[in-house]
Amino acid sequence: MQALNSQARVAVIGAGAMGAGIAQVAAQAGHAVMLFDMREGAAAEAISSIDRQLAKRVEKGKLDAQTRTAVIARLQPAASIEALADAHLVIEAIVENLEVKRALFSQLETLCSADCILASNTSSLSVTALAAGMQHPQRIVGMHFFNPAPVMALVEVVSGLATDPAIAQCIHRTAAAWGKKPVHTRSTPGFIVNRVARPFYAENLRALQEGAASCATLDALMREAGAFRMGAFELTDLIGHDVNYAVTCSVFNAYYNDMRFQPSLMQKDLVDAGHLGRKSGQGFYSYAADAAKPLADELTASTHVDTCVVEGSLGAAQGLIERIKAAGIKVIERDGSGLLRVGDAVVALSDGRMAAERSQQDGHRNLVLLDLAKDYSKASRIGLSCAKGTRREALDQVVSLLAQCEIKASLLEDIPGLAVLRTVAMLANEAADAALHNVGTPADIDLAMCAGVNYPVGPLAWADVIGLPAVLQTLDNMQRAYGEERYRPSLLLRRKVAEGSTFHD
Ligand code: NAI
Repeated sequence: MQALNSQARVAVIGAGAMGAGIAQVAAQAGHAVMLFDMREGAAAEAISSIDRQLAKRVEKGKLDAQTRTAVIARLQPAASIEALADAHLVIEAIVENLEVKRALFSQLETLCSADCILASNTSSLSVTALAAGMQHPQRIVGMHFFNPAPVMALVEVVSGLATDPAIAQCIHRTAAAWGKKPVHTRSTPGFIVNRVARPFYAENLRALQEGAASCATLDALMREAGAFRMGAFELTDLIGHDVNYAVTCSVFNAYYNDMRFQPSLMQKDLVDAGHLGRKSGQGFYSYAADAAKPLADELTASTHVDTCVVEGSLGAAQGLIERIKAAGIKVIERDGSGLLRVGDAVVALSDGRMAAERSQQDGHRNLVLLDLAKDYSKASRIGLSCAKGTRREALDQVVSLLAQCEIKASLLEDIPGLAVLRTVAMLANEAADAALHNVGTPADIDLAMCAGVNYPVGPLAWADVIGLPAVLQTLDNMQRAYGEERYRPSLLLRRKVAEGSTFHD
């Protein structure tokens, strides 16, 4: 089924933040759009607000005046739901309540023609449940936009059990025609993004709870080593802890308390205290007018490094070697098991074991572990951890080597998988499980995480780059260290490693 052509009439129900944004997107794509809200005047107010935003864009030279006039002319407030009867596509963005949405769809079935597509912007309800008992459940589909809808590219096209694949295809193509990046997904809790993103918050919260480092240090590592737009603490402060915690609880409950989604008591405490983040003035950080933003911790270099020795490949951290050479440090290369020797220090990329375990098991004295970086040739900060017995002078050598490469070093407590590695390994693991359960294709899952939550690269593509055996080993080691099924590797990851293939083969 083709995309709806721009002559097709679109109706949007609910003129709140999402409904108004969706109506704007459809009108910008050339559709006549009717906007209805049960609160009188709300639809007209929303259209005025869209007009004000478009006017600002015209002032800034980002939009021409005729386009603004044409878009606004295509948006009409509807005085009653009956006015939507001739729509070809209705998208509801009303209150997130199953019974209320079902009642709305029942009413629409009596009003609209049998071939009108009924879409829901729900972010957490089952599309299967929304369609149950309808006369034509095959035309009910999820069309999940992200906030703000005119800006965020992702649309999750959600198929319930009864959704006609041709309808899902039509909505997918229509979203693409509207300039969005649509992905297909099955109606499962959290769909793709709200499920696969959980470890980003969970692993950082756990690292904080275990005293690995301060919020500011962990956030800086996520940004400056992980290349994420924001760290988990600044991001959840922005989202609001009430909202973020509720999504985690909803996914956790929906997956029958799978420990992989276990909510954080630390975050619950913030919610209980009313420390909801930016909107309440206090979350992990203070937003008081006089509050200074805490700085990330970093070690200071105290010596100068002329030479180091690389034994074998450092795996995903191999890019660091070029950077060391570019900094004018002599690198002696020889065979070995993936170690960098700097003075007395033995440096290795974390494999998910604690430094204490690894130095004991592998017999290394003065072991310093490196955290993952998205790109070692560009990272401006890297996390380190070391075993208690590692001599201060040995650590200094590593910090100085990194400083000569213009990389700041942040020391973490000795937790398994440090900060970025544990987060990325768990994101890839969740993405792998979502792919295994056919929630989306690997390509769609990666696209969803980049277009929906701005990840620098999709978690599956990232795992391919790290090397799937290294990701599996990290998870196996973390599962052993914690003794928790939370870290159990996905069957798909294990199978890919056994096959010697990748997620995007
Ligand atoms: P909102 O509270 O800003 O707006 C909802 C609007 O729907 C209100 O104007 C309300 O008067 C109207 N409404 C409620 N019941 C109605 C009914 N029976 N008939 C007609 N109008 C009705 O909510 P928001 O944030 O725009 O969310 C709407 C939907 O979009 C929810 O399903 C939500 O889960 C989903 N969503 C929200 C996102 C967000 O970040 N806010 C992101 C993605 C999806």
